[in-house]
Amino acid sequence: MTWWREAVVYQVYVRSFADSDGDGVGDLDGVRSRLGYLELLGVDALWLTPFYTSPMADHGYDVADPRDVDPVFGDLAAFDRLVTAAHEHGLRVLVDLVPNHTSDRHEWFRAALDAAPGSPERARYHFRPGRGPDGDEPPNNWSSVFGGPAWTRVSDGEWYLHLFATGQPDLNWTNPEVWADLEKTLRFWLDRGVDGFRIDVAHGMSKPEGLPDSVAAVRTGLLTGGRDGDPRFDDEGVHDVHRMIRAVVDHYPGRVTVGEISVQDNARFGRYLRPDELHLGFNSRLLQAPFTATAVRRAVEQSLASTAAVSATPTWALGSHDVSRPVTRYGGGEQGTWRARAMALLTLALPGTVVVYNGEELGLPDAEIPDEALQDPQWERSGHTQRGRDGFRVPVPWEGGAPGYGFTTGVPWLPMPDGYGRLTVAEQLEDTRSSLSLLRRAVELRRTHPGFTGTDVEWFGAPVGCLAFRRTGSTLVCALNTSTDVVPLPPGDLLLSSRSLDDDLLPPDTAAWLA
Ligand code: NOJ
Repeated sequence: MTWWREAVVYQVYVRSFADSDGDGVGDLDGVRSRLGYLELLGVDALWLTPFYTSPMADHGYDVADPRDVDPVFGDLAAFDRLVTAAHEHGLRVLVDLVPNHTSDRHEWFRAALDAAPGSPERARYHFRPGRGPDGDEPPNNWSSVFGGPAWTRVSDGEWYLHLFATGQPDLNWTNPEVWADLEKTLRFWLDRGVDGFRIDVAHGMSKPEGLPDSVAAVRTGLLTGGRDGDPRFDDEGVHDVHRMIRAVVDHYPGRVTVGEISVQDNARFGRYLRPDELHLGFNSRLLQAPFTATAVRRAVEQSLASTAAVSATPTWALGSHDVSRPVTRYGGGEQGTWRARAMALLTLALPGTVVVYNGEELGLPDAEIPDEALQDPQWERSGHTQRGRDGFRVPVPWEGGAPGYGFTTGVPWLPMPDGYGRLTVAEQLEDTRSSLSLLRRAVELRRTHPGFTGTDVEWFGAPVGCLAFRRTGSTLVCALNTSTDVVPLPPGDLLLSSRSLDDDLLPPDTAAWLA
């Protein structure tokens, strides 16, 4: 069963989706209460960001117990209710898996701190003596993705490795206990009925022996890791971890794994998608491409090249909880909105799986968050030079005209802007020209129109600043105009456009589907 090859997956940032109990934080019962909306949207599956027990140093990507639910999100019974209800709505459920690190409140890390250097408790993580005469310099020169050194010193003088926040110690994947524990976690959720996993930092886990200094200057940042010469990521040993995961998942037919793979080289990226590793993988090419036909075409071509070599299915995303929202990235305001709509049509025309991040269907821009309300660890770790990701994690506005907007009856965990009223789900469902209506129609056509076949694309000649492609062997053509001129459309009957045509011509910042 390969339902995921042409699926639309909706990313639910659980904290920000729907709050059922008025504490201002989204939760699992909240997600369940909105399944009807996801069914209406026509998506095939939802991916839930981490809802496990966590002190929330990185909003759940610091997991203290991977086999339990944090009380802020509900409990295991709420999870079971959600999975049952989702399946009744015809929606599959993917959960996030965080195998690279734990929380510093995980019982293993607490035990490691209580134990002596060299103990088995410390051997589940990367503890090392420091450098310099007093050992007061970090064991190597690696930096944390969130800024600052990747090492923190503990009271007896040893240091521990954390590629992300201080509260996210990296696990030692040469330790068999670490493998056994992940296997247990996989079975735990598979036995509860999940349909697959999104795997966090899928290019992490394994570290080079001896943890050598990085020779090349390494850039920090979530999207820019994994470049050549960065010893922190993409170590050969990681592929054995994926083979183990796949072997477990293969016992449960129809389940899928999708990795976050921040590896820039196409051939190295593709290796994660070999037949005995991950089914799908995100890359960050479209997330980083500016709104120009050249950059977009290049991102698509590179992504297709990275999967074609291993006959894998490409995965497309324009946003996530880690990157500025498309409307803002493409320039903001009305123009940013038109461009984001155009790019949504482009991704939904491509062969493969498409992931839509909650709020993207509403055309939400990034929100401005005042300094005192910022929560992302990036803000503190960068010495207040990077504002972090809170602006694109603001709760989803469902209805009404005042902050809360049907997301919560309490105070939302991040302030919701005053101007969200016109962007709410309720408003947009009523308006056939809204971003939400466009996405619904596009997802519906993608599911019902016979043109959405073919696993590759053929490019056509197009006016300067434009691109046009057809899915191989099919009649579906997608044209995108990133120029400032109105341009003629390729031949064919118009199926859908991201903005009204201008006398049968394609306006700037617009995409169209023809068949
Ligand atoms: C990638 C996740 O998407 C991000 O939100 C998180 O901070 C890091 N991995 C660390 O777990």
